Amino acid sequence: MLVSAKEMLTKAKAGKYAVGQFNINNLEWTKSILLTAEELKSPVILGVSEGAGKYMCGYKTVVGMVNGMLEELGITVPVALHLDHGSYEGAKACIEAGFSSIMFDGSHYPIEENVAKTKELVAVCNEKGMSIEAEVGSIGGEEDGVVGAGECADPDECKMIADLGVTMLAAGIGNIHGKYPENWAGLSFETLDAVQKLTGDMPLVLHGGTGIPEDMIKKAISLGVSKINVNTECQLSFAEATRKYIEAGKDQEGKGFDPRKLLAPGADAIRATVKEKMELFGSVGKA
Ligand code: 13P
Repeated sequence: MLVSAKEMLTKAKAGKYAVGQFNINNLEWTKSILLTAEELKSPVILGVSEGAGKYMCGYKTVVGMVNGMLEELGITVPVALHLDHGSYEGAKACIEAGFSSIMFDGSHYPIEENVAKTKELVAVCNEKGMSIEAEVGSIGGEEDGVVGAGECADPDECKMIADLGVTMLAAGIGNIHGKYPENWAGLSFETLDAVQKLTGDMPLVLHGGTGIPEDMIKKAISLGVSKINVNTECQLSFAEATRKYIEAGKDQEGKGFDPRKLLAPGADAIRATVKEKMELFGSVGKA
């Protein structure tokens, strides 16, 4: 059964480790992540972007697929199904469809509207026993080949949003989605420290988990980060393994590639990436 991310993140914050959010894009990714979490006895969060939700045929299909896998694979570790960077409409659709957690990214609304919408969604999530993540300070990334710098959140604004009753808070600390540019200034631990001091027990979320040096990840965890999001790294390992398989020319004598065999090396590569991250984040054995 899917669970809210609240309990696993409260435990992670208290135990000074982080739970990985791994984004899913299809059946193979989902199966690989769930099997790795079960093997390592680690709690896990499956992230679904609105684009991936559409690709996978809608949120109800995603919920059906994940619930089916939890049962058929005999998954016993805590698993949360979480909307990543949700719009107001997307958040409502995921609540309706049976997700156990949502992120409402209202950073582009004027602050009063962001607060009002966040409050409304917090109330619905509380009623349904779901967790909800909010973001303060936009998280940069590559768009049309231009890499935007990661913003640093205003700690007072973080405190204000945390007080609305959200479960976890993503504060921008110079992190960005995708690959980091060569001249990246690194994470702002000063900002993180200030945010954690003002928000107390609130689990903090680090987006853009791909490519952050290990010592920075560990320091961020020591300063209150208890959820780390990873997508690009799975994408890179999946693509590389698939490319190698195709280049090896393992098609079936004119019948093309067996789709199950074609996707297997990528699925194995994702298992390896997820394992490496769970070990780094310290969530192994914590389920
Ligand atoms: P990366 O794609 O940089 O790993 O970031 C993932 C993320 O933060 C999803 O919200």
